[in-house]
Amino acid sequence: MHIGVLAETGERERRVSLTPSGVRALYGAGHAVAIESGAGVTAGFPDQAYVDVGADVDERGEVVDGASVVITVNGPDERALQSAPWSAIGSGHVVVGLHDPLGRPARAEALAATDATAISLELVPRITRAQSMDVLSSMATVAGYQAVLLGSTRIQKMIPMLMTAAGTVPPARFLVLGAGVAGLQAIASARRLGAVVEAYDIRPAAQEQIRSLGAKAVDLELADDDAEDAGGYATEQSDDQNRRQHELLAPHVADADVVITTATVPGAASPELVTPEMIESMRPGSVIVDLAAELGGNTRLTRADDEIEHRGVLILGPTDLTSRAPMTASQMFSTNMVSLLRHLAPDGELVLDLNDEITAGTVLTMGGEVRHPAVRSRLGLPELSVTPPNQEEEE
Ligand code: NAI
Repeated sequence: MHIGVLAETGERERRVSLTPSGVRALYGAGHAVAIESGAGVTAGFPDQAYVDVGADVDERGEVVDGASVVITVNGPDERALQSAPWSAIGSGHVVVGLHDPLGRPARAEALAATDATAISLELVPRITRAQSMDVLSSMATVAGYQAVLLGSTRIQKMIPMLMTAAGTVPPARFLVLGAGVAGLQAIASARRLGAVVEAYDIRPAAQEQIRSLGAKAVDLELADDDAEDAGGYATEQSDDQNRRQHELLAPHVADADVVITTATVPGAASPELVTPEMIESMRPGSVIVDLAAELGGNTRLTRADDEIEHRGVLILGPTDLTSRAPMTASQMFSTNMVSLLRHLAPDGELVLDLNDEITAGTVLTMGGEVRHPAVRSRLGLPELSVTPPNQEEEE
């Protein structure tokens, strides 16, 4: 394969989709890699580091022209597709990246119109066999860790318990709401700093994981069998369940110095976990870090990429947490990318076998059409006669 790596263009984006060690792995497997000049700089990888492992460093247009597979962190949006270098892609190109197909399905249509094959990293099935390709888990890991650092530096307190000649300082209290990948990493990170941590998730299976990290699992005894879908994701709750949840969570929120919220429901607005009344019950100087900010937020006061102070409580809605550790985030992203490319080209040549569960699950567009069933349904398109197989063996 001729793999082209483009620099990211997002304002706050500092990651790169392939690191020098990723280049080495692909080069070793017989692939050629060209990277846009400067693409790795914000993540700590200068051009020379890529040249040293066999990559060509080139201008943007040349990278796309010479590539059969173009890889990015964030795929192009509708506007970017209109101008160079993206306007040059066509049926001979495969574009791999985060295309946000469920959040922005119109983008998938624009990609289909180019005739290129788009592979969407969000669509990698969450099955054991695909774990090494799971960019969402990698990025959630970085975000969970960064959320703890951010919250820790914005409260007025130190985190660990201190016993000093000046007296005993009690530990800070963290509450993590939503204990998926990001939440579990937040729990582990807050514990390492010495915080007392409580955590809650609607999925009953999360309780044991919370406890295994040394945090207290808040059990609201609310969950029913419908709290989790077949893929292990949370389902949307009823208004009544939400009200009950707020009531029962309120004392835990009031008691926390830092609340980290991570709750999202695929295909739905993020649930409101912390109401304005609950925020008003928190001590002044407390902080909420809302990781769901981009998807509407877990409080109605959250503003994406902004901070709001409400009655002395700071509400942070960062959407760039992965870019605050761009080297680690890029290393993980690149490793996932190499795994996926190896899967798509097991013998060196790209073969998109639509009978393979992982390949079929990740192909977003092909042959001028949006192929993915969930994205087609979001666009109101009829089902294709040959649909990818169901995602089996979910955990
Ligand atoms: P996510 O980012 O979609 O959601 C974060 C968390 O918020 C989830 O744990 C969810 O249960 C929770 N949540 C949603 N609504 C809530 C509410 N109203 N109240 C409290 N909590 C709420 O999820 P993420 O982190 O991407 O993954 C969730 C699950 O997906 C994992 O725990 C696992 O079961 C599965 N998974 C499987 C993988 C694999 O098998 N390869 C890899 C990663 C995740």
